[in-house]
Amino acid sequence: MNFGTVGTGWITTSFIEAAKLSEQFNLVAVYSRTKDKAQKLAHTYNAPAYFSNLEEMAKSDEIEAVYIASPNSLHFEQAITFLKNKKHVICEKPIFSNTAELEEAYRTAEENGVYLFEAIRNIHTPNFEILKEKIHMAGKIRSTILPYIKYSSRYDLLLQGEEPNIFSATYSGGALVDLGVYPLFLAVGLFGEPVKTNYFPVILSSGVDGSGTLVLEYEDFICTILCSKISDSVAPCEIQGEKGTFILEDAAPISEIRFIDSHTKESQIISVVQEEKNMVYECKNIARIIETSNTKEYHELKDLSKIVLRITEEARKQNNIVFASEK
Ligand SMILES: NC(=O)c1ccc[n+]([C@@H]2O[C@H](COP(=O)([O-])OP(=O)(O)OC[C@H]3O[C@@H](n4cnc5c(N)ncnc54)[C@H](OP(=O)(O)O)[C@@H]3O)[C@@H](O)[C@H]2O)c1
Repeated sequence: MNFGTVGTGWITTSFIEAAKLSEQFNLVAVYSRTKDKAQKLAHTYNAPAYFSNLEEMAKSDEIEAVYIASPNSLHFEQAITFLKNKKHVICEKPIFSNTAELEEAYRTAEENGVYLFEAIRNIHTPNFEILKEKIHMAGKIRSTILPYIKYSSRYDLLLQGEEPNIFSATYSGGALVDLGVYPLFLAVGLFGEPVKTNYFPVILSSGVDGSGTLVLEYEDFICTILCSKISDSVAPCEIQGEKGTFILEDAAPISEIRFIDSHTKESQIISVVQEEKNMVYECKNIARIIETSNTKEYHELKDLSKIVLRITEEARKQNNIVFASEK
């Protein structure tokens, strides 16, 4: 499938390389606000076309799908532009700023006969599939702790008085929507929609959360999600059941999963070694869903994105974290 990219950060090059590895995508165009940057990226990855005008790019007949990796608040308008021009859209997490945007974008995709996906790498990995298959080994789940904590060098810039996009309410930033969504997708993918959610953030001078604790209440247990961009941690994820505990080295890309039997204390690794360019799995899944018109899987992914966005929107509402586009 011929695809183009929007944004020139490191994640765009990771996606381009993973897309190539998947053997399902062929890079035909790149976009940057700056012509020189677009030309340079196109040259590096042998893309035949480059654009600094998004509308022009969206009209190109050569492009079937586009990967969007711009600041969060721009996802919606850019996605709509491509969807209206009948291009499939793979949009980086967090897909949009709120559920109203999500509903409108899915409607636009449907009206134009194309697909819209959120690029969330961990739920497409083989190790997530294994975890879903083996979750019964833990018995009744009783507690779950899922951290995604990573100090961001962009926090240093905030402390120096700048406002990097990812810490900005103008660009729909913050720890929960940036990092918290990884464990949140795991939780919703494994356990479904929680009955109740509560978010306890640390709010920064820019008005968004630098870190926070998201408490998901399920019928029989609590799932605690810890996210931070202003501190570091080596704590793994734990899913604790009456019969055993799963220990995940990380929430994304889920590199290793260990299971410890509560009674025998025996420990076993149940994960496989995944590709280093782990975005390859989302590339393969997305290409397969589009090519086989697999509406069942498409709707499952759509529902996951909807629930996750509903939760982060509610979490922001509880704490008066308002993005600029919502004012
Ligand atoms: N899946 C993952 O593992 C992963 C990892 C990192 C990031 N992400 C996601 O990828 C997206 C981009 O993240 P990032 O950290 O690369 O963001 P970023 O550095 O703030 O911006 C990404 C690109 O957007 C363009 N851009 C920057 N500021 C802009 C502005 N004010 N107006 C218009 N365009 C602007 C720039 O490209 P040009 O200057 O070339 O136009 C830049 O390369 C986010 O949604 C993020 O959540 C995902």
